[in-house]
Amino acid sequence: MNTKTILVVDDEPLSVRILCHHLRKEYTVIVASDGSQALQLAVGDTPPDLILLDVLMPGMDGYEVCARLKAEPQTASIPVIFITGLSEGADEQRGLDLGAVDFVVKPFSAARVRTRVRNHLELKSHRDHLEALVKERTAELLHKQHLLENLNCELEQQHLELEKHRDHLEALVKARTGELLLKQQQLEELNGELEERVTVEVRKNREKDTLLVYQEKLASIGQLAAGVAHEINNPMSFVTSNLRTLLSYSAIEQQYRSALEEAATAHCPAEVCAGLTRIKGDLDLPFIMDDTAALITESLDGAERVRKIVLNLKDFARIDGDGIVPTDLNDCVQSAVSIVRNEINSVAELELSLADIPSVLCNPQQINQVIANILVNAVNAMTTCGKIGVSSEYLTDYVQLTFSDTGRGIPADIIGRIFDPFFTTRDVGKGTGLGLSISYDIVKKHGGEITVSSEVGVGTVFVVRLPVSGPVETEKTPE
Ligand SMILES: Nc1ncnc2c1ncn2[C@@H]1O[C@H](COP(=O)(O)OP(=O)(O)O)[C@@H](O)[C@H]1O
Ligand SMILES: [Mg+2]
Repeated sequence: MNTKTILVVDDEPLSVRILCHHLRKEYTVIVASDGSQALQLAVGDTPPDLILLDVLMPGMDGYEVCARLKAEPQTASIPVIFITGLSEGADEQRGLDLGAVDFVVKPFSAARVRTRVRNHLELKSHRDHLEALVKERTAELLHKQHLLENLNCELEQQHLELEKHRDHLEALVKARTGELLLKQQQLEELNGELEERVTVEVRKNREKDTLLVYQEKLASIGQLAAGVAHEINNPMSFVTSNLRTLLSYSAIEQQYRSALEEAATAHCPAEVCAGLTRIKGDLDLPFIMDDTAALITESLDGAERVRKIVLNLKDFARIDGDGIVPTDLNDCVQSAVSIVRNEINSVAELELSLADIPSVLCNPQQINQVIANILVNAVNAMTTCGKIGVSSEYLTDYVQLTFSDTGRGIPADIIGRIFDPFFTTRDVGKGTGLGLSISYDIVKKHGGEITVSSEVGVGTVFVVRLPVSGPVETEKTPE
């Protein structure tokens, strides 16, 4: 059984016949007598599996036919065996160069041609098979490559997505870290602030405690002073009253003595009268009699001063009347001045200029305290003998007290701190630094204000303004 087709191309009918004769037993043989017919048959319905090609033919020779066959993809793979009378090596070489698989020289032996044809057909079939295999493998490989490429593509896609995720996560981590760092910083700042606040609060509380103790002390000193004043008041009343009686007694005695002297002059002998006059002179009686009245008057003066001091002391301490009451601030000034009068007198001349002012709703004991604190500070500020002035005046709704001194003044760098608790420029143990802080507190509680202006080397002015209507409702009942 043989399905292979051999195309015999030769212009010599004899050669064709011989070849056909030998090959027909095994193959289908088709014949072309010239080049162009050969080319037509090669691309015809039954394309040949092998071509036996004569070289020398009229028209198109075998070489050209071979060249055209090899140039055409459809026919390029058909093995071509040249069968020719040309026997030069160059001819053979040319044919092989053109792509022929073999070169058989005429006259040929039938067996050789058959063998060559069989071999080349086998070779072709092997080659076709191999090519098919290669094609198949190539297709498979291409398919696999395609799959791999797809896989690669997918992997790359996944890798890209992973990278995207990673970038996203990294950005998230970065953002969170930033947030956390910020929060940590904020917390640290808050912590610092809180610590600072606690420190400030602790300090304030300590200061408040000390202030309270100080105020308590002041109150008890006030109570003590009021108690002492009360105790002195009684004996002083009867001392004054007795002195007055004594003064009237001395006048009566004087009257009686004058009457006696008149009687003696009228009725007694001259020598008795002279004796009496001598005794009177020796005893310095006229002076004693005059001086007695003067002594009693002076003592009464003294007693009156003691009475006033006691009164002022009582006024100043006001043990019997603290709380908010209508008060004449001029009285407060007088009362405080009387308390520090001695200190003032030793360093300054006091000038009071008290105007007609309405009464102010206030706690007089506390206002006395404020005035006394300011006056004592003025005394302490004196370097040489100077002046301390206190004046009062009424401004709409307010009474204003102005305290001026010609002391050393307050340097600008500390003037902002003088109302701070415990701020003092006085020596250790002398100043508490609480006078102005307490005064500030008191004036503020009364709804008023206290201000200061000062020039170093010239003096200082403190101004206290208190509303006539007193502190606002909630503050009208201080503890
Ligand atoms: N009239 C004034 N002249 C100069 N300095 C004054 C005067 N009043 C107050 N000061 C200053 O204010 C400081 C605080 O006064 P104060 O609170 O009364 O405390 P202290 O009198 O115990 O020092 C004083 O130490 C002083 O330096
Ligand atoms: Mg003071």
